Formats: sequence, C-alpha cells, structure tokens
Amino acid sequence: MLYQNPINKLQKFIQKQSFLRMGLFLAILLGIILFNWVALSQRPVTLSMLITAPDAQPWKQGLIRDFEAENPGIRINLVEGPNATNLLEDLYTSSFILGESPYDLVNMDVIWTSKFAAAGWLLPLDDRISKQELTAFSPKDVEGGRYQNKLYRIPVRSDVGMLYYREDLIKEAGLKPPETFEDLMQISQALQKKDKVNWGYVWQGRQYEGLVAMFVEVLDGFGGFWVNPDTLEVGLDRPETLRAIEFLRSTIREGVSPPGVTTYQEEDTRRLFQSGQVAFLRSWPYAWPLAQAKGSPIQGKIAIKPMVHAPGQTGAACLGGWGIGIAKSSKHPEEAWKAIQYFTSEKVQHRFILSAGYVPSRRDLFTNPEIVAKYPHYPQLLEVVDNAVLRSPIAQYAQTSDILQRYLSAALSGRTSPERAMQAAANETRRLLVARD
Ligand code: GLC
Repeated sequence: MLYQNPINKLQKFIQKQSFLRMGLFLAILLGIILFNWVALSQRPVTLSMLITAPDAQPWKQGLIRDFEAENPGIRINLVEGPNATNLLEDLYTSSFILGESPYDLVNMDVIWTSKFAAAGWLLPLDDRISKQELTAFSPKDVEGGRYQNKLYRIPVRSDVGMLYYREDLIKEAGLKPPETFEDLMQISQALQKKDKVNWGYVWQGRQYEGLVAMFVEVLDGFGGFWVNPDTLEVGLDRPETLRAIEFLRSTIREGVSPPGVTTYQEEDTRRLFQSGQVAFLRSWPYAWPLAQAKGSPIQGKIAIKPMVHAPGQTGAACLGGWGIGIAKSSKHPEEAWKAIQYFTSEKVQHRFILSAGYVPSRRDLFTNPEIVAKYPHYPQLLEVVDNAVLRSPIAQYAQTSDILQRYLSAALSGRTSPERAMQAAANETRRLLVARD
C-alpha cells in the first residue's frame, strides 16, 4: 500500500467537502432562480386604466370582478380621475408625453381619438377585429374611433344629449312638451309663475368640454355650425351662432336658469333637477336611472325627448360616448385586447346598460326586451344616435374646443359682448386650423 501523507489526505478531504458544498450551493441557487421564474410567469398581469370619477361607479359594481374571475391571469387597476372629460384627457396626455405612461387601456372620449392617434400614442386595432364584427356597432361610434382610415378605439358605450322634463307638471298644467326654444321658455315661466318649480331650465355652463357639447346642440338647433370637418370652414362668427348665445343668455336674464348655471357641470345640473326644483334639464342618458331611483323626489315624474330647436329646424343631439384603445407603450397588448373584447361584448354591455343607463354602442341592444322594459325611451334613442352631431373629428380638436370654451364662457357670463367674443373665437380658430393644416 502506498503511503499517503496525512496532510495530503486532509487537503483532499477538505477539497472534496468544498466541492460538495459548492454543488449544493449551486443547486439551491438554481432552485431559487427557477422558483422565481415560475412564480413570475404565473403572476397576473395588471392592466391600468384611467376613468372619470362618475364613470368609475358602474365599473366597480361587478364588471371588473367578473372579468378577473373569467381571466385569472389578468387584473384591472381602475384609476379614478376627475369628473371633467378634458381634465382626464390632460392626465392621459401628460402621461404619454412624459413617457413611461402607466396606462395600458386608454379609456377615450369620442373626441380624443384623432389627437391620440396622430400623436402615435395608440396601437391600431384593425388586424384584431373584422369588418363584420364592427357592423354590430353604431357606425358613428365606430367612426369616432378611426383616424386616417385606421381603427384605434372600440366603442364601449355611446352617448347623446337629451332634454329631460317634468311630465307630471306639464300634464297638470294642460300643456304639451316643448318643441322649440320659445316653447321651453314659455312653459318654464308658466310653471315658475305657479310656483311649481324654482327654475325652468338647467344646462352645463361651466368653462369645460361639457359647455361645448351642450352648445353644439343649441347651435345646430338654430341652423349654425362650429367647424366643418371637411372644408375646415369656421361658423362661429355667423348670425346663427349669435342667436344660439342670445337664447342661452336670455335663460339667465329672464330668471329661467339660475345665475350660477355658468358654473355648472353635468352632476350639478342633475342634482338640482333631481331635487324637484327644476322643470327642464339638458343632460346625457346616465341621469335617467339616478333620477328614477327609489327615493328620488322626481321618481316616475319625468320624461325625456330630443333637444328643442328653432322653428323650421330639427332638434340636434351631440354625439358623446366612450371607447377603449391600447396604449402603444403598454407591455401587455394581448391582455389589453382580451379586456377590450370582454368589455365591449354584447353580454357585458347588456349588463352595463341595465345597471348604469348608458347608451349602447351595439345596435341590437336598443330594442332588447329587457332593456326596453327598464328604459322605454331606448328605441327612440337609436334614431337620435343616428342623427347626432359629431364634434369635429380633427387632430386639433382639443385646442379648437379650448378656444370656444374660453370665448363662449366670457360671452355667457357677460364679460365680453357675444359679437366680440365670437369674432375673436372665429379668428383664433381659423389661425389654428391654417397653421396646422
Ligand atoms: C359625456 C360624453 C362625452 C362628453 C362629456 C362632456 O361624458 O359622453 O362625449 O365629452 O360628457 O362633459
């Protein structure tokens, strides 16, 4: 037997031990890496979406929970923003401009598509949905999601401005619902004189996007226009525009509308009407289920009709509505598309409409028996949607609207004469459209 130096033996033993330990260490390390990789790949993907505060409620009432239950790998992080649509737009805009936007799903008002698409913030969706599938939606809602022949937004719900009125008081007074602006003034004053209501008519007069949506209806009702999207002609300094402003000013001057109306947004007007103090309200269909809810002072006392107009004209509704697109910066476009498909599906929209009173973007739902049983005015709404006025779908919409908001607000609150205000608004709009064309 060969003699082995005990020191050598010891060295070998130590070497063997450290190999073993090293092996063990590597195995543990590999295990940890593998475990994390599996855990990470199974961790649900979170999709973030920003939404106005009033709109968030119906989403929170089960819609998101049900989506997550059906799609265990996806979570929705609904971020509640401010009430006004233009403030929400500012938040989305700054998040995209600064880069690293946290939003995957872009919940868009119908007027934003052109701007967001032109800036390159959205993924085109044409390859994901067939023309056939799109025919189920109202054409104007689909159009509102296109920019330069590409589709960027699927409509989750439509919207149209309507006139709410106190059917009980009008019947009791032996009157008929108004057809013209003049009728609306007369009925208001008659009911006010009899002390049936404090105010005749409430509308959205604050300097924000809602002012513009309300105004295009009155403007169209007088036969006027704002910006022609094809020719880019501007109609703000025409006599029809001044007549429309004069009508709104007269509602305040004659005490039909409260002086504070020039500071109201949708929810201010809805609350005042719902308190029972007002005969007429201009609003969107979301107000219906709230006004008809149990405990509402006007439950069962109201009706809804298209907006009034000048003699010889037809009443116009502003087309509103919301849809969802996918942020180009999103790391989860496939999951985002799954969510869009779910939220715009017939089944989900049916539920959404029944709970929130929104206007469907899918045509079949306007005559769905369950929906009509709850909202008898829906078949009539389809006709209103088909004839609704679009706010110009141009990439410079936000600036155009901002100009109108500023000058119209000055004219309505008496800070500037309507003539001067509209001349300036028209000039500024023309300069903007020429510069960017
Ligand atoms: C509603 C409409 C939207 C409009 C907004 C104005 O949310 O759906 O299109 O811009 O009201 O306040």
